[in-house]
Amino acid sequence: MKTILTGIKPTGEPHLGNLAGAILPAIELSKNSSDRCLYFIADYHSLTATKDAKQLQNNIYEIAAAWLAFGLNPDEVIFYRQSDIPEIFELNWILSCMTPKGDMNRAHAYKALVDKANEEGKDPDKGVNIGLFTYPVLMTADILMFNADLVPVGKDQVQHVEIARSIAQRFNQHYKQTFIEPDAFIQENVKSIKGLDGRKMSKSYGNSIPIFCSEKRLKKLINKVTTDSTPPGEPKSTQDSLVYDIYQAFASKEQCQELEKKYAEGISWGEAKAELFNVINPQLEGPREKFNELMANPSQMDELLHEGARKARELAAPLLKQVKDAIGI
Ligand code: TRP
Repeated sequence: MKTILTGIKPTGEPHLGNLAGAILPAIELSKNSSDRCLYFIADYHSLTATKDAKQLQNNIYEIAAAWLAFGLNPDEVIFYRQSDIPEIFELNWILSCMTPKGDMNRAHAYKALVDKANEEGKDPDKGVNIGLFTYPVLMTADILMFNADLVPVGKDQVQHVEIARSIAQRFNQHYKQTFIEPDAFIQENVKSIKGLDGRKMSKSYGNSIPIFCSEKRLKKLINKVTTDSTPPGEPKSTQDSLVYDIYQAFASKEQCQELEKKYAEGISWGEAKAELFNVINPQLEGPREKFNELMANPSQMDELLHEGARKARELAAPLLKQVKDAIGI
């Protein structure tokens, strides 16, 4: 049996990009495998960027509710909050002491900030907290704490998993064989979708379509998807059509072929957007209701997450003991 583990950072209103790129494929993976799955909310990772207590708390519940609303089954997946597992933070310190500072200097997210500051002639330390700098060590602790074999992540997180591998290796070599060296797992069926303006859908670009907005707002946002100015009646290509791009992430093969035919026949952009709404909205209706129910009663989620944490700690505690034995503490 393999252990599959992934963390979800609560960074704000979940959008269709998160749904197609992370939530649905990970839930599908948990249903199709006999492996042990651990999915957790990486709430302490958010603290490197967010200092708004109310907002953070709301984000944590929203992301938990989103996963549950789309069918994550807490009986099949160990589902917990990172902050409920004190063992992770103890391991984080131990692993920090096994991590060369230079590896952190080279981590993409931090390096991008430094490069940008240098380009702008600014102090490269400005706005960088130590948590942000050592973010990859905490992520390593998340992964190694459960001896995960596979870590489903997007391409942007592959370097972090490689850092986790190398820290595991260093520990194993210096002390004794303790940790599995994890592999990043890029799922083939993951679809990345673009936002309203054609750039990658991201909250920070302000181009995202939230999963759980009202039907009215969803319709309005879909009407804002950028198109070219080909008039109604003229054939359109699906090649660089943003409407089609988003459509294909949520439609079946047959539905895609049908829309492709309509494009060739000169469907108007207004009608194409109506088709897009009609394929997305029914998939969101049920989860929207479930999400609202969960958000109205967060203590129900607390209970569920605490139960997940209890299961997770049963796995973490013996491994942490092994680690402490190995290091002489
Ligand atoms: N860094 C990941 C992200 O930004 C979230 C994360 C935290 C994570 N810890 C993890 C992912 C452990 C996989 C495994 O998306």
